[in-house]
Amino acid sequence: MIIIGATSGIGESLARQAIKKGYIVAGTGRRKDRLISMREELGEHFYFREMDVTNFEEASDKLHSLIEEMNGMDIIVLNAGIANAPSSSITSMEQTVTDVNVKGFIQLFGESFQYFRKAGTGQIVGISSIASLFGSARNAPYAASKAYISTYMQAYRNRCITSNIDITITDCKPGFVESEMTEGKKGMFWVADTEKAVKQLLIDIEKRKAYSYVTRRWRLVAWLIKMTPNWILERV
Ligand SMILES: NC(=O)c1ccc[n+]([C@@H]2O[C@H](COP(=O)([O-])OP(=O)(O)OC[C@H]3O[C@@H](n4cnc5c(N)ncnc54)[C@H](OP(=O)(O)O)[C@@H]3O)[C@@H](O)[C@H]2O)c1
Repeated sequence: MIIIGATSGIGESLARQAIKKGYIVAGTGRRKDRLISMREELGEHFYFREMDVTNFEEASDKLHSLIEEMNGMDIIVLNAGIANAPSSSITSMEQTVTDVNVKGFIQLFGESFQYFRKAGTGQIVGISSIASLFGSARNAPYAASKAYISTYMQAYRNRCITSNIDITITDCKPGFVESEMTEGKKGMFWVADTEKAVKQLLIDIEKRKAYSYVTRRWRLVAWLIKMTPNWILERV
């Protein structure tokens, strides 16, 4: 299993839990020091690459070199994401969020899809969000970036079904989960323990589900958002 964005939060916890379950895991991220300590702690079943997903071509090259080093890949988890970025203007902050969450995502999704097509089978897990379901006033680029990747994954899943391609595409939509991203943020509820959310995610990955809501109660929220007319949502 290769986890893009494994240096903290959901990705780091997934790396640990997957190794405990016997997977051979690779993790990536920009913070090399964290990857080195994870290797020291988790041992030879943990491979790593320092990677910035916004260096698109370099990220692709690093993904392929990891696949080679691991003698293949069966699951990739595209988890790298940001909600905000330090920036001199709102526009450039929004562009940075889009670069990481959308452009970085589709670059590595495309490479993985081609790899699995040649291999004949595989699974791509994309970490979207409940935020993909509604254009929240709090964070336009984040909600929009997650809506983009969810629709993108749905389109690829439909392509796999209609063209008989054996690639599973799992769209994970977490609710609020404890991590560096949510640290100190106000206005959150039902904030899940990272381990618990990731345990449920790993079960859904193994069941090769099309959609994963973690924790489970967020499935109900997703359903309510989908059923509620916009004129009501806009007043909430
Ligand atoms: N926590 C929540 O409540 C929540 C809810 C819904 C969805 N999500 C999604 O879950 C995913 C993981 O988030 P998290 O909550 O676990 O937050 P986190 O602890 O901040 O983890 C984010 C991960 O993404 C990596 N990353 C960020 N920018 C990157 C870049 N330019 N290149 C490569 N890697 C990059 C980080 O690594 P480096 O900093 O080392 O590069 C880190 O490993 C994100 O996609 C997020 O949108 C989170």
